[in-house]
Amino acid sequence: MQGLTDKNSRPMEVVNYRQLKEEIEKLKKEKNAVILAHYYQRPEIQDIADFVGDSLELARKATEVDTEIIVFCGVHFMGETAKVLNPSKKVLLPEPKAGCAMADMATKEEVLKLKEKYPNAWVVSYVNTTAEVKTISDICCTSANAVRIIEKIPSEEIIFVPDKGLAYHVSKKVKGKKIIPFEGFCPDHYLFTKNMLLKLKEKYPNAPVGVHPETPPEVQDMADFVGSTSQLLKWATSDQLDAQEVIIITEIGLKYQMEKINPKRKYIFPTPEEGVGYLFCAQMKSVSLEKVYETLKEEKNEITLPSEVIEKAYKPIKRMLELS
Ligand code: 13P
Ligand code: SF4
Repeated sequence: MQGLTDKNSRPMEVVNYRQLKEEIEKLKKEKNAVILAHYYQRPEIQDIADFVGDSLELARKATEVDTEIIVFCGVHFMGETAKVLNPSKKVLLPEPKAGCAMADMATKEEVLKLKEKYPNAWVVSYVNTTAEVKTISDICCTSANAVRIIEKIPSEEIIFVPDKGLAYHVSKKVKGKKIIPFEGFCPDHYLFTKNMLLKLKEKYPNAPVGVHPETPPEVQDMADFVGSTSQLLKWATSDQLDAQEVIIITEIGLKYQMEKINPKRKYIFPTPEEGVGYLFCAQMKSVSLEKVYETLKEEKNEITLPSEVIEKAYKPIKRMLELS
């Protein structure tokens, strides 16, 4: 942001968000760039994005982009997926240190060990994995399509990497297949407990409950609806849902879109005001407007991957997009 000032020569740091947003808009046109953002991003980031979505929608969108630059407001594995789908484009991650703790729990070596133990099993990787892990996976999935993908693939035995919460959801829904879960989890979703949900339910006895499948099994078992961020958004804002208020157990960023789409309903997320701690992904929230501006201006923080990794990681992602 160096050198950028407002009309009164105030440095950019003290200039309001509006000017920053205008500067980003200008840069986007000048540089032929598009901004993609996940639902967990801060509201001001969702507002400047050309497209906001869940992991599956963002991966799909990344295949349709015709600009030279993609600024990916999300965590590292999402930027990697966009790069794998668009190897010739510049994919920039405004906060290069924004990783996903769950994705980092599964290493290629550990997955290979499981493959050795279960040689007939297919490896199904949640997109929340590194590109390295994708290179040894048979197919990818997201929380929006995991059930459909596992129903459709020919294997009876599945090594499911890395989320044991999503593995539980799939095992409940898909009959006749053996799911071998990897011991990974999302430290933000998995720390939400049954007692916390009981507390919210006691306070709002008439509110139906929607939860993300990254929550623990006992929380999923108490829910009226289990779904990905986009599925929760659709369910909670629908006019078909007969409720004045609804309890949603996922990252707080999704509340912004819910209120935008259907402001008549009250969306109760875990927050200290509700008597339970925030469900908050610090990595997702580490992206700021200032970082988007600087990244785009300097075309820095580019995602790079060896061509061999791109080639091998492309196959399971493409398979997923074809099947879902
Ligand atoms: P979605 O697939 O629902 O976008 O979730 C991604 C994620 O990281 C949830 O924690
Ligand atoms: Fe990863 Fe959890 Fe953050 Fe989603 S919420 S990006 S799974 S750490």
